[in-house]
Amino acid sequence: MHAIFEYQDFFISYLENQTITKEPKNLYDPITYILGLGGKRMRPVLTLMATEVFNTSYEKALPAAMAVEVFHNFSLVHDDIMDDAPLRRGQVTVHEKWDINTGILSGDAMLILAYQYFEQYEPVVFRDLAKLFSKTALEVCEGQQWDVDFETRTDVTIPEYLKMIEYKTAVLVAAAMKMGAIVAQTTEENANLIYEFGLNLGLAFQLQDDYLDAFGDPETFGKQVGGDIIENKKTYLYLKAMSFSTQEDATQLAALFATQPADTTDKIVAAKLIFNQSGASEATQEAIQEYTFKAFETLEQMNITADKKAILKSFGENLMNRKV
Ligand code: IPE
Ligand code: IPE
Ligand code: MG
Ligand code: MG
Ligand code: MG
Repeated sequence: MHAIFEYQDFFISYLENQTITKEPKNLYDPITYILGLGGKRMRPVLTLMATEVFNTSYEKALPAAMAVEVFHNFSLVHDDIMDDAPLRRGQVTVHEKWDINTGILSGDAMLILAYQYFEQYEPVVFRDLAKLFSKTALEVCEGQQWDVDFETRTDVTIPEYLKMIEYKTAVLVAAAMKMGAIVAQTTEENANLIYEFGLNLGLAFQLQDDYLDAFGDPETFGKQVGGDIIENKKTYLYLKAMSFSTQEDATQLAALFATQPADTTDKIVAAKLIFNQSGASEATQEAIQEYTFKAFETLEQMNITADKKAILKSFGENLMNRKV
């Protein structure tokens, strides 16, 4: 196995060698733009790592890793339209740099481009990858729809929220890892365990994303801080604050999340104050830990050497401490 940063380098070299830009420019330029903005490259790194965990060279997994990253970037282009987000990775979002129609079509093209990368695999591997990918992509759409539906609902529960983030985010992290297992053609049991590991890591990851959306450093976060509050997203922070707060604070928070003010500064300050005072911020941190540790428990059940477990574990620990 290699170090995490090496997998990142391997993937970035592969990505930079792909020629995506061609005519018409307004279709392909946004694709090159978003893929070139960087990001953590977490999902492709997980695909490469999972392949090597099961004793196969990462090189065989590069097209699958690329498929996952292109799909992820597609989902971000459409997500930023849906969330009315101005910033992505510290730069202007595709639909703001071009326009919404460009974002829709370039996103569609990326979804197809992602699938095309599976054509590089032999029939059995191709079938298993495509099958997992289709199931996952549909689940991501379901999660995204729930996320939007919840914006205008006032009765969202924690189990509903957890299901929503499982679908919009965790299943792709899980699938990224299972794809590594598929490329390595390991046992069904191993493939399912690594999926389970990725799923719990993915839940922790989205909880952390929600936390950073409110409390991240605007200088380094790369996205609009407070975006979820502006959009009335029913995050873990919000739901826990509603259940922990005094009657007075809960009423105020519910009222804040029923508005769309033109100036959002006061709304963000007030919501964050209640998130902190109620103990919701701490509860979110605890949940992030809980799901990360749950992922580590799955790791223990896996029949792989201790050094491999250690690398996967350090990946999870790094994620918990991330600021972007
Ligand atoms: C953002 O994903 C979307 C979520 C599922 C929270 P990342 O935080 O992995 O985004 P990049 O690729 O590193 O920019
Ligand atoms: C995004 O969730 C999930 C997908 C893109 C499928 P968010 O809307 O929280 O992601 P960010 O915060 O914009 O990256
Ligand atoms: Mg978003
Ligand atoms: Mg969203
Ligand atoms: Mg977010």
